[in-house]
Amino acid sequence: MKEKVLQKFKELYGSAEGVSVYFAPGRVNMIGEHTDYNGGHVFPCALTIGTYMAVKKRADKKLRFYSLNFEDLGVLESSIEGIEPEKSAEWTNYPKGVMWAFAGRGFVMDCGLDVVVSGNIPAGSGLSSSASLEVVTGYMLREQFGFDVSNVDIALIGQYSENNFNGMNCGIMDQFASAMGKKDNAIFLNTADLSYEYAPLVLDGARILIANSNVKHKLVDSKYNERRNECETALRELQEAVAIHTLGDLTEEQFETYKSAIHDETRRKRAKHAVYENQRTIRAVEALKQKDIALFGKLMNDSHISLRDDYEVSCEEIDVLVEEAWKIDGVIGSRITGGGFGGCTVSIVKEEAVNAFIERVGAAYTEKTGKKADFYVVDIGDGPSVL
Ligand code: GLA
Repeated sequence: MKEKVLQKFKELYGSAEGVSVYFAPGRVNMIGEHTDYNGGHVFPCALTIGTYMAVKKRADKKLRFYSLNFEDLGVLESSIEGIEPEKSAEWTNYPKGVMWAFAGRGFVMDCGLDVVVSGNIPAGSGLSSSASLEVVTGYMLREQFGFDVSNVDIALIGQYSENNFNGMNCGIMDQFASAMGKKDNAIFLNTADLSYEYAPLVLDGARILIANSNVKHKLVDSKYNERRNECETALRELQEAVAIHTLGDLTEEQFETYKSAIHDETRRKRAKHAVYENQRTIRAVEALKQKDIALFGKLMNDSHISLRDDYEVSCEEIDVLVEEAWKIDGVIGSRITGGGFGGCTVSIVKEEAVNAFIERVGAAYTEKTGKKADFYVVDIGDGPSVL
């Protein structure tokens, strides 16, 4: 990948001399879904796939961007000054949003940049290609301009830009996982205060298997924002009855005691998911520490059911992938991962069952949906780096 972006850089901009190449990973979340904007816990890990960015400073204020994932768009030009979201800027709204967010915090970028990007995260898969693009941009800006920011700051700036420049009200999980990833570890993050702990994902001869449904249903961002609003309303209703700051403050028992304060059945289900999923995540990490992988897997399965029935962010294709996975011997746990409405499932599968999984789940998926799924056995990688 490094050679590929350097080669393209040379081809487009004349020379690859003095060019730096950066990388930031995508992520997969093991458990703790739709809890990160509810003050709950998440448990994601960085992948070894992600976004590569070749960069060189320019003498003027021009920005030139090229992506090997969107070759037909060619080189997209703009300026480092007066950055604003524009539809015609296409994918460059992500790196430009990060530059805009840095500028908004008083960081000075005194020259433009030539940029070539290439990512190996499957598009629309829900494995955080946009967060990895934001994080690689933040990391690159720090290195190029000497900004005094931590990796956590880079994650927060990435999230801020996605919320305020690109209009997607995401939580902090994706950017945090990309910026703070650690090889062979998942990150147990409390999104209420950003305290975190690394937990080695020791799976006892099992592998992490991602199944990509290759579907992305329409209006994903607006449905995501809608869920978020439902939770915020439910929280306000609960606050009439109990002193809490976030849904993550409640145990299941407390939720059952106070849930009648929520005046709408749908909102009650959304809040229930947020509360129960947070507690499940805490329990799952405890199970992992006790080396109880079977319990970890069961909690993943429960997470899926809750996302399917209470939070309603699954879809027919994803349910087929999960339900077929549950039928296979050697599958420890399987669930939808990421924002939902398509995308991927994550499963923990005993090494010896991996081939059977791919064969059987793949065949059943095509038979039932007429579509083709892709499968990746993944490794857990580190956060961003200079290559
Ligand atoms: C998307 C968002 C995250 C998180 C997940 C759901 O990936 O970007 O912040 O909310 O959905 O867990």
